[in-house]
Amino acid sequence: MTVLLNDYLQQQLQQHGLPEKLGSVISSISNACLNINHEVRLGALDNILGSAHTGNIQGEEQKKLDVLSNQLMINALRANPAVAGLASEEEETYVAAHEEGEYLVLFDPLDGSSNIDVNISIGTIFSVLQKPAGELSTQSFLQPGKDQVASGYVLYGPQTILVLTLKHGIALFTLNEDNQFVQTARDPKIPADTQEFAINMSNQRHWETPMQAYIAELLAGKTGPRNKDYNMRWVASMVAEVHRILVRGGVFTYPKDHRDAQKPGKLRLMYEANPMSLLMAQAGGAATNAHQNILDIQPEGLHQRVAVILGSRNEVAYATAKHQA
Ligand code: AHG
Ligand code: MN
Ligand code: MN
Repeated sequence: MTVLLNDYLQQQLQQHGLPEKLGSVISSISNACLNINHEVRLGALDNILGSAHTGNIQGEEQKKLDVLSNQLMINALRANPAVAGLASEEEETYVAAHEEGEYLVLFDPLDGSSNIDVNISIGTIFSVLQKPAGELSTQSFLQPGKDQVASGYVLYGPQTILVLTLKHGIALFTLNEDNQFVQTARDPKIPADTQEFAINMSNQRHWETPMQAYIAELLAGKTGPRNKDYNMRWVASMVAEVHRILVRGGVFTYPKDHRDAQKPGKLRLMYEANPMSLLMAQAGGAATNAHQNILDIQPEGLHQRVAVILGSRNEVAYATAKHQA
């Protein structure tokens, strides 16, 4: 039987007594992603490649597609009365939507910007929170990852895939020829052990000593203390690395390094680490900042950076333990 995204949402809402409006927020996100997907597929034909010649709040150069995807997400979410406000990697402050809205949506509209122009997998990552009572402020958004009510991503790869959790397991959907998300997998379980790691090795000299020691052990393979050979991958799109890990396991890390004392990592807690960590937890994997579960971190700022180690739980535990000595 073909299960479309909407069927799945209705079934989940009913089974777990979740509000209809949560389903509508997910629908708005998936509609925006269909529009982003359309642009991604056209590429140069729609003049969406290349730089926008602007910078974002993080001081990063914006690509045309970063700006466009951000706008498509904002438009779709603002049109939904259940959305009280949103926060984006590409916006300086949060954006207020509907006073009566129940939900807050945080997102990385386009993950993997360096891969846009070279036709390598990119994605959109999202996180949904309940809006706390009272007036909307930045504080309303600063909830630990464990309080997310939903999260997921859309991967614009060889196939367009939506991965979603409403905190009752995970569902995977593949976009069909009629532009509908069809469920193609349910509750993937990440193998606890792995022989595949992902890290940007070019930053090696900047890492802290425990990460240096951990990766050295993996590189030593069978001749080292781990007693097995490892393989390495680095796509430079977190969304693609997380998808690979959901499907076949692995460990992904973007560690803290010594380049900028203000930044305890490159990835953003609210737009990247939290939503992905919830998916990991729902699939039997794990995610830490090398010291604690990412989902337990009390956020201090919308654009806060964080070190990330995520994936197969035994490997994440091993790498994390290395940092506690
Ligand atoms: P974004 O494109 O949203 O800025 O995020 C890119 C992130 C992440 O997706 C990826 O893992 C990492 O940056 C790649 O960083 P390097 O270019 O340093 O490898
Ligand atoms: Mn990103
Ligand atoms: Mn981005």
